[in-house]
Amino acid sequence: MFTDMREGTVMDWAHIAAEHGKHQKSVAARQIMDSLKRLEEIEVGFAANQLTHSLMAGTLARRAGATDEEVVAALCHDLGKLFSIPNHGAIAAEMLKPYVSEDIYHAVYWHQEFQGRYYFQHLGKDPEGRARFAGESWYGFAEKLVDEWDAPAFDPSFEVDPLESFEPEVTRVFSNPKAMI
Ligand SMILES: [Fe+2]
Repeated sequence: MFTDMREGTVMDWAHIAAEHGKHQKSVAARQIMDSLKRLEEIEVGFAANQLTHSLMAGTLARRAGATDEEVVAALCHDLGKLFSIPNHGAIAAEMLKPYVSEDIYHAVYWHQEFQGRYYFQHLGKDPEGRARFAGESWYGFAEKLVDEWDAPAFDPSFEVDPLESFEPEVTRVFSNPKAMI
């Protein structure tokens, strides 16, 4: 095995690709599930903390018959808040990007702009900023994600499906990257 990447051989890279593949299968269970759990620490003024919010969004998606990718998108759309509030949508979208369709990526990336319909008027911003995306292939899914699963998901008395129950969907989606390296 090389100690200087400039000297890598085809054998080295076959080994590295295989090891990345093995590691990737454990990323979902270990890192994404643990990260979701840490959302419980984020109380940012809503009636529900960010874990409850995410579980409720995921539960609503699941009960609406959403696909694995859609359920995981609903569950993980605010995961970026672990690192930054202002660009949390972009961070979550980039985390999901290798594993989900382009449409789901864009919907998660721009979800805050869609959610603006419900509060941007209170902050001096355009609540209908989503209009500039009309005609995009992902517009319909972004509306479903935000209007049906995200916006209603702030009820701490709602009986959410437990975090552990989402592990199968999370593992299926995050074990299947469309590109490895
Ligand atoms: Fe959200």
